[in-house]
Amino acid sequence: MRAMPKDLAGGEQGQQSRFPPAIRFDRVSKSFASAGGRAAVLALQDISFTVEPATFVALLGPSGCGKTTILRLADGLIRGDTGKVEVFGAPPKPGPNIGFVFQTFRLIPWASVQDNVEFALKGPLFSQAERRERANRHLELVGLAEFRHAYPGELSGGMKQRVALARALATEPDILLMDEPFASIDAQTRELMRIELMRIWTDRRPVVLFVTHSVDEAIILADRILLLSPRPGRTVKTIEVELERPRWAYDARAEPRYVELRSFLSERMRELVLSDPSSEFYGRDLAPPADR
Ligand SMILES: Nc1ncnc2c1ncn2[C@@H]1O[C@H](COP(=O)(O)OP(=O)(O)OP(=O)(O)O)[C@@H](O)[C@H]1O
Ligand SMILES: [Mg+2]
Repeated sequence: MRAMPKDLAGGEQGQQSRFPPAIRFDRVSKSFASAGGRAAVLALQDISFTVEPATFVALLGPSGCGKTTILRLADGLIRGDTGKVEVFGAPPKPGPNIGFVFQTFRLIPWASVQDNVEFALKGPLFSQAERRERANRHLELVGLAEFRHAYPGELSGGMKQRVALARALATEPDILLMDEPFASIDAQTRELMRIELMRIWTDRRPVVLFVTHSVDEAIILADRILLLSPRPGRTVKTIEVELERPRWAYDARAEPRYVELRSFLSERMRELVLSDPSSEFYGRDLAPPADR
């Protein structure tokens, strides 16, 4: 078998490998019917990418470009109209091997924090004692052990998001789909949660598809960044983030590569938003921010 150069690992398509990639999208398009019989919305167009095992990928793109749709396709919650999605070489289906942190938390309001996490562990794989142990361990990990008996209605948005994170991590899945998981968390906790996520990832090496609007978050966390166009989402650029890991062990933000990537991605994001007819900033002549 031909050795694959590192910079092609996880490349666009057509590569040969002994093992199937962890995730493969091959020319996937997806549209949604609009209410009232209006024209369908084309959410994604011809999306192709592959993700090798143990790789952290950030999906970066303007609002409405189809990031959540990509995660739902990867989980098997929905199917594409055309093209193919595979997870470890087979059509994806939701289960304990895929953890999903939803943008909207999706906690069960009448169940305690602990029961919400244990819910993900229901089924023949885990005994009752193991469920309890895993739930407690992951609630500790996200700093919510003391709130295990609270109900979602008693929690702040950031706390709910951390419960959702604990729930997705509790099965120790091979694939973790994370939809803006830190968006409602305050800045200080967010920074700590990023470090915690980097530690978990270093330890367990799941495949992560991580949706974010934040250029900084994408660079600090990911091995690779997929930059998506405004709707219909297409892959505009794939960028390898060659910053040494562990990135919490030094000031990665001071590295020349970080500064270069940040400036490039911020500029591209700005251009993408300004060129999107559905954006409120469409066509405006906005100079780049002077100092970011
Ligand atoms: N179930 C649905 N029914 C109808 N339209 C949908 C549905 N889900 C998504 N869409 C549309 O598909 C497009 C992409 O949606 P998606 O939620 O994937 O975007 P996104 O990139 O995650 O946006 P955001 O950054 O705001 O979360 C949007 O125009 C959205 O309105
Ligand atoms: Mg979304």
